[in-house]
Amino acid sequence: MIEKKEVGEKAVEYIKDGMIVGLGTGSTVYYFISKLGELVQQGLSIKGVPTSKQTEKLAIELGIPLVSFREIEQIDVAIDGADEVNPELHLIKGGGGALLREKIIAKAAKTFIVVADSKKYVETLGTFPLPIEVVQFGYEMTMKYIRELGGNPKLRHKKGIPFLTDNGNYIIDSSFQEINRPEELEKSLNLLPGVVDNGLFVGMADAVITIVDNKLVTKVRR
Ligand code: 5RP
Repeated sequence: MIEKKEVGEKAVEYIKDGMIVGLGTGSTVYYFISKLGELVQQGLSIKGVPTSKQTEKLAIELGIPLVSFREIEQIDVAIDGADEVNPELHLIKGGGGALLREKIIAKAAKTFIVVADSKKYVETLGTFPLPIEVVQFGYEMTMKYIRELGGNPKLRHKKGIPFLTDNGNYIIDSSFQEINRPEELEKSLNLLPGVVDNGLFVGMADAVITIVDNKLVTKVRR
């Protein structure tokens, strides 16, 4: 919890007056959003674009003004968490089920910064089962195709019923053992009928704020 707070709060240093800010989802970025809320109360003028209904609710509670894509052309900086980060700063995201909106917002951002505690850092992606957002219709077939790509797909449940994303879709969590070619897998999955998007974020993160040897470190993509 302490690491999550440290990396989350550090990210506010990237926020300047007048910016449009992408607001991620999860327990790490929660600390960023809370700190941002304090700064807004103190007079910082920014507008947020939330990656989930959960974050939208939090931002409203904290008094952070929000905008939608109807009103803006792009986002200045987006801050979000991750489930795994590899040395090239490729990510697995979607543990909270918000991967689609998170990817749309990360792509729309001039700068995309990830906040991740030391446990998220891995040599090779794939220990964390990859979240894949799929439409409800025919998801059994989509699972079959994911199996054919080497995955071990499981439909995500919450309180005994299938988990629904903010977009009304299902999430399939699929382990792939080691993901050695994340770019290839990201594309192959997105070509399957029924797949809306998947939690591989390849070449998107500009920097990752994390903890190495008990010290705050910002790793920048080369
Ligand atoms: C939600 C995400 C989160 O960023 C990811 O799951 C990390 O969450 P946390 O900071 O709670 O560990 O991708 O869809």
